Amino acid sequence: MTKLTVFIIFIFFGSIFIVYEGCNKAPKKADIKKESFGTLPNGKRIDIYTLRNKNGLEFKIMNYGGAIVSAKVPDKNGNIADIALGYDSLKGYLKNNPYFGPIVGRYANRIAKGKFTLNGKEYTLATNDGPNHLHGGIKGFDKKVWNAVPEKVKKGVALKLHYLSKDGEEGYPGNLNVTVTYTLTNNNELRIDYSATTDKTTIVNLTNHTYWNLAGKGDILNHKMMINANKFTPVDSTLIPTGELKDVAGTPFDFRKPRTIGSRINENNLQLKYANGGYDLNWVLNKNVPDSLTLAVRVTEPTSGRVLEIWTTEPGIQFYSGNFLNGSIVGKNGHVYRKHDAFVIEAQHFPDSPNHPNFPSVVLRPGEKYRQITIYKFGTIR
Ligand code: GLA
Repeated sequence: MTKLTVFIIFIFFGSIFIVYEGCNKAPKKADIKKESFGTLPNGKRIDIYTLRNKNGLEFKIMNYGGAIVSAKVPDKNGNIADIALGYDSLKGYLKNNPYFGPIVGRYANRIAKGKFTLNGKEYTLATNDGPNHLHGGIKGFDKKVWNAVPEKVKKGVALKLHYLSKDGEEGYPGNLNVTVTYTLTNNNELRIDYSATTDKTTIVNLTNHTYWNLAGKGDILNHKMMINANKFTPVDSTLIPTGELKDVAGTPFDFRKPRTIGSRINENNLQLKYANGGYDLNWVLNKNVPDSLTLAVRVTEPTSGRVLEIWTTEPGIQFYSGNFLNGSIVGKNGHVYRKHDAFVIEAQHFPDSPNHPNFPSVVLRPGEKYRQITIYKFGTIR
């Protein structure tokens, strides 16, 4: 073989290697791009933003409801799956939407009979969940168009969302200026920073309502769950807390040691029954220092090896096991969503706090700043 032939062979295989490597490597830099996701009946255009980090994790977030539309995360072998429930197009979100992925407010979760009193004045909100107010009312923050600004930040990429909730909207007092920033970091974290200010005393409780399935399909009964909580807030038959903080010890609500979600979900227990057969309760997170950012939940899915940790500054989390999904929704890629096909972890103040003086306060006054940080950390185990 001549030197020239050897050289040509070398160049040939070298180029194949470079092309191969190029196809397989995740983008080296985090980036964010904007596309149209359709239009609302009033003609308003809705945008969807794709956030990618340098390890190839990819989240899509739209400015309608600030909702997470997809979450593409690798399993233990590097195979990517979409682990968030939702629809392929905006149409689905407008038609039949059990809160797939959005920001929820002004008050996430329930307020008994939609009534609360502030400074001696009684306020009445819509009752959109049996006798109670749920997730901010008929047109909560999940159904609002947010102003979105994409940003490149040191740690990765971010999407800053802003919404001004007018005085009296859905019955709540005060103009509430809300900013929610999603940051996808190069450490495989999706961080949500919430902040809000008001010009009249009001109540605030913001969260995100993403339905997760760490396998990307099937039910979540074999997912292993750990909840860092010694107590929970038991509820009445309409899912309003009784006011008691009850020990989880000896109940199906004890997730202090990791165990599968399905292991006790069918026990004969009134709290499980009230929730339509499954979990839909608020846990009181163990915290030495109030408002500190601590580990709330760790979920592990054994076949894919995906692990999701949720850290939050909030005092509670609602763990909802998708009990109202019933196979009637056809979501992304023709996926039919059945009962227990997903879990939702809502970092929050306790439900119906305005009517329970023993619960941490949800009152926000002019001059104060509401803050909430929740981090979703994605990883894998073998
Ligand atoms: C929350 C509630 C549930 C249910 C879902 C939406 O998780 O606690 O009862 O309303 O939202 O379907």
